[in-house]
Amino acid sequence: MAVIDIHDVEKTYKGKIHALRGVSLEVHDGEIFGLLGPNGAGKSTLVKILMTVIHASKASGTFLGQPIGHRPTLRQVGYLPEHHRFPQYLTAIQVLQYYGALSKVPKAIRTKRAYELLERLGLTGWEKKRVSTFSKGMLQRLGIAIALINDPTIVVLDEPTDGVDPVGRREIRDLLAELKSEGKAVFLNSHLLSELEMVCDRVAIMVKGQMTMQGTIDELTRDSTRFEVHIVGQPPEWANEAFDDVRDSMLIKHGDNTEELQSLIDKLRRDNISIGAIEPKRESLEDLFMRAVDHIDNPGSVR
Ligand SMILES: Nc1ncnc2c1ncn2[C@@H]1O[C@H](COP(=O)(O)OP(=O)(O)OP(=O)(O)O)[C@@H](O)[C@H]1O
Ligand SMILES: [Mg+2]
Repeated sequence: MAVIDIHDVEKTYKGKIHALRGVSLEVHDGEIFGLLGPNGAGKSTLVKILMTVIHASKASGTFLGQPIGHRPTLRQVGYLPEHHRFPQYLTAIQVLQYYGALSKVPKAIRTKRAYELLERLGLTGWEKKRVSTFSKGMLQRLGIAIALINDPTIVVLDEPTDGVDPVGRREIRDLLAELKSEGKAVFLNSHLLSELEMVCDRVAIMVKGQMTMQGTIDELTRDSTRFEVHIVGQPPEWANEAFDDVRDSMLIKHGDNTEELQSLIDKLRRDNISIGAIEPKRESLEDLFMRAVDHIDNPGSVR
């Protein structure tokens, strides 16, 4: 089942800024979905529309089975906004209780869950400290704890690892995997590509308010699978025919057909050509991202 299934979402801000130009997106039950895009792509705008913080200029589809903009549905949603700010005079536990009350979590459950979440987010010992004394990374962890206070079905996280150090980021990744194992769906925005590569089941890439690709990382990178054969010296003449690309002493064969590769290697060896290395290669999420950005900037370009 799709927890988010939206079509043709458009948003034009005052001043005719076309932040979203017909975005469609599907997030499945129980998956971790990563929305990638450069600064200003429209990621937060899309999240804010889902969370009813702003209105879309045009939108159709559903969020947890209800039309976009249906506020009662949000009780089942956890939200970490970008650039969040909490009342500075409250302590961590008070902030969590406050947001728990706003999402109508019964009082009896609220306090217990708040302590559990602070422990889960590595904030043990900080429960009674004012948030004004928290570092950026700690505020971010607190924000994630808040997103979980109502035990949501889906968590929507806008740049969850923003300002968090490498150890903390890893802990957040582990937490996301745990949430998934509990059956929750996770929808996150980020531009930390390698991080998303490690944790997301599916990703979408958004550039200038348009969706350019959507799928599993395996699906999106499959076409780029290739072998790179590095030889010593000049390639033989037949290499231009037999390989898909020849770049000096690097011979490239697309696909993952190892038998075909063996016969090419045999042929090279028969010609007494030394092979320095054979590397299986596949595009990284970063390569895909760069290609998506380049494609929008230069629509006629081929990869
Ligand atoms: N309230 C607003 N009024 C006018 N324009 C806005 C408003 N909020 C965002 N924009 C514009 O809409 C576009 C998309 O912004 P958005 O914040 O959604 O991008 P983003 O992908 O989240 O970027 P980042 O990675 O920097 O967070 C940008 O051009 C931005 O300047
Ligand atoms: Mg943003």
